[in-house]
Amino acid sequence: MKVLLAGGAGYIGSHTAVELLQAGHQVVVIDDYSNSCPESLKRVKKITGKDIKIYEADIKRKDAIRRVFGENQIDCIIHFAGLKAVGESIKEPIRYYRNNIDTTLTLLECMRGFGVKNIVFSSSATVYGEKCTMPCLETFGRGNCTNPYGWTKYMIEQILEDTAKAHPDISVVLLRYFNPVGAHASGLIGEDPQGIPNNLMPYVTQVAVGKREKLTVFGGDYATPDGTCRRDFIHVMDLANAHLKAIEYAANHKGVEIFNVGTGKPYSVLEIIKTFEAANGVKVNYEIGPRRDGDLPEVWADAGKAARLLGWQAHFNLADMCRDAWCWQSKNPQGYGKH
Ligand code: NAD
Ligand code: UFG
Repeated sequence: MKVLLAGGAGYIGSHTAVELLQAGHQVVVIDDYSNSCPESLKRVKKITGKDIKIYEADIKRKDAIRRVFGENQIDCIIHFAGLKAVGESIKEPIRYYRNNIDTTLTLLECMRGFGVKNIVFSSSATVYGEKCTMPCLETFGRGNCTNPYGWTKYMIEQILEDTAKAHPDISVVLLRYFNPVGAHASGLIGEDPQGIPNNLMPYVTQVAVGKREKLTVFGGDYATPDGTCRRDFIHVMDLANAHLKAIEYAANHKGVEIFNVGTGKPYSVLEIIKTFEAANGVKVNYEIGPRRDGDLPEVWADAGKAARLLGWQAHFNLADMCRDAWCWQSKNPQGYGKH
């Protein structure tokens, strides 16, 4: 298949590009590098020995995106393009709504205009909201999101569902990611956050490499086994493989299907630190600090539906995730360099 990766130069898109190219698919990427850089795709080519057609463009701009659809016979879109920092979304809601929703609408208009039938969307466990009981099941309602970023995912899911209802010839797969971490085993590509990392694993690796002095563990007094929050961490290459299964599923089905993409097993922040230290033989300096606003004590997936319908399951364990995250960070202390 010829697969369009919208936002494909980013963390999850670049790993998915490797997985798709190695499975024999053709890859077209559109990215404006607002949160990435061209180097990630150069390295994808190096890993796979295959070529990628790349367009630098803002996906909100329909004229530029029409050109991409006109020049390529796209079979399936994977829509990664979006802003994703929770805290930033609270400070800049308009930018978040504009970017995340407009990119989606442009892609859908082009999809309809050029007869593309299949789209896979990067959604998030955040759509289950703060009242969700664990483990999260796809049949639970969405809502009670705690920030504008989460609401953009909620709204985009609704937009895609309405579109599929109006146009029964299309197929929509909503992938609700839990906590993606780790990197490709080569250490050539990985997560490269700009500025101070918001997420746990890149913070841990930056402390380990000496770029930051110490990790603050946000809260040690939760009603969890060790008092710290628990999350469903998933290796980014397992997540990339879920996209491969999802495009195959979309090609053979119509309508909307939602899948959790997690391992189904939660680990605490302290377990991450201990496993990281043991797997890599490095020390992670940390202290327990106050809770972070908006954090839920525990979040994990029921991953049964993806196993049943997609034939997908996670293969990497927590030590693999820690080892590969460290391999990337230690080989690339400054990430890809200047963005
Ligand atoms: P990322 O920021 O590394 O990748 C997103 C890519 O989209 C970047 O390369 C960015 O430059 C591009 N982009 C953004 N707006 C664009 C625009 N208007 N035009 C063109 N390109 C644009 O993020 P990621 O971690 O790879 O996440 C990919 C998707 O998965 C996002 O939609 C994110 O919300 C979602 N998601 C991520 C996580 C996570 O923890 N990483 C969890 C759940 C869901
Ligand atoms: N944490 C720390 N210290 C840090 C960073 C994080 O203790 O410096 C803790 C957090 O408090 C949380 C856990 O590590 O308990 C995981 O935090 P992340 O920020 O890595 O991930 P979240 O679970 O908060 O957020 C992720 C995605 C969001 C998505 C959300 C949905 O990053 O995009 O899951 O559940 F919306």
